[in-house]
Amino acid sequence: MIVKTVIIGFGNVGRALLKELVKIKEFNIVGLASSKGAVIVRDNKDVNEALLIAEKKQKLDKHSKFIEGLTSIELAKETSAELAFIAIPPSYETGEPNRRIYYGLIDLGVSIVTADKTVLAREYVELKNKVYERRLFIGYRATVAAGTPVLDVARGLRGREVERIRAVLNATTNYILSLIEEGLSYREAVEKAIEEELAEPNPQIDAHGWDPAAKLAITVSELGTPITIMDVIREPLETIPEEEVRRAIREGYRIKYIAEAILGEETYIVHPAKIKREDKLANVSGNINVVEFTLENEKVVIEGPAGPAWRTAKVMVTDAIEYLETRKQLKAS
Ligand SMILES: NC(=O)c1ccc[n+]([C@@H]2O[C@H](COP(=O)([O-])OP(=O)(O)OC[C@H]3O[C@@H](n4cnc5c(N)ncnc54)[C@H](OP(=O)(O)O)[C@@H]3O)[C@@H](O)[C@H]2O)c1
Repeated sequence: MIVKTVIIGFGNVGRALLKELVKIKEFNIVGLASSKGAVIVRDNKDVNEALLIAEKKQKLDKHSKFIEGLTSIELAKETSAELAFIAIPPSYETGEPNRRIYYGLIDLGVSIVTADKTVLAREYVELKNKVYERRLFIGYRATVAAGTPVLDVARGLRGREVERIRAVLNATTNYILSLIEEGLSYREAVEKAIEEELAEPNPQIDAHGWDPAAKLAITVSELGTPITIMDVIREPLETIPEEEVRRAIREGYRIKYIAEAILGEETYIVHPAKIKREDKLANVSGNINVVEFTLENEKVVIEGPAGPAWRTAKVMVTDAIEYLETRKQLKAS
């Protein structure tokens, strides 16, 4: 079984994904797309050239077969792709162009594996309904704490009475807060995080809570209570004074950027919160994420790495393997 596959987005994740997928014989890479155009991959020579470009961390337009202006949807159509990996930047406020790409692929009958949270966070139910109506597959493990199967845990708790979720879901704000604890101002800490390529060039994605809010919305939806990112209140990280971050340490606490859901009250929030030092969530640092589900007077906790890009690509491969299994069932029925 050979699956004609395209990769949409040739940035950190897309490039890492190409390196992973060429190792798996079931996936035949037939196309690559970036924001300005695409490459129709016709043979091994084209793949090898793309791998070289990926190795050098260059943009796709360096490829000799790059066709300027060829869109992802045109690429999928032209190559008769069966599966698309999506690794494009989020667009939470308008949803575009991401929505157009997802629904365009679905209309063409293309299954999806995505690391981008946009459409699931904005319209989880509508997207999944569309996918299932067309008897397609969507894999999205990489959208929450890529590297740690948080969504598998959430799926495994469906039908149980989960009362509360508390989580640290964003590495960048962890890092910014640790720099503020060391004495930097908020602005200096954000600048350092951008300099070190830890923060998105648009710091609002992290520090205004869009990223953890998207992850919280997808996790809650996965539990069986569909919500959208617009249901999540976002208190920007900068609402907490720097001195308060440092005082918390002296008093045996830490300030953490917490994503929280109280399910019975339909309260969903991302906010800087004062956490006791001995609390698991207070001790999370670097790119480690923690999600704590409270149910039946006990806690189920999952902790592990989120990203970077190479690990995210491996998680997308896990989804792709699931696709191969699902495909057999879809074809058989
Ligand atoms: N990095 C991680 O560890 C990680 C972990 C989990 C999830 N994610 C998610 O994965 C996605 C990709 O992340 P990344 O770090 O790879 O981002 P990135 O390095 O900024 O790369 C984004 C890529 O998407 C392309 N692109 C933008 N708009 C496009 C469009 N309309 N059509 C086709 N391609 C388009 C860009 O094209 P150009 O090259 O022309 O700019 C670029 O190649 C994001 O949604 C991110 O939140 C990342």
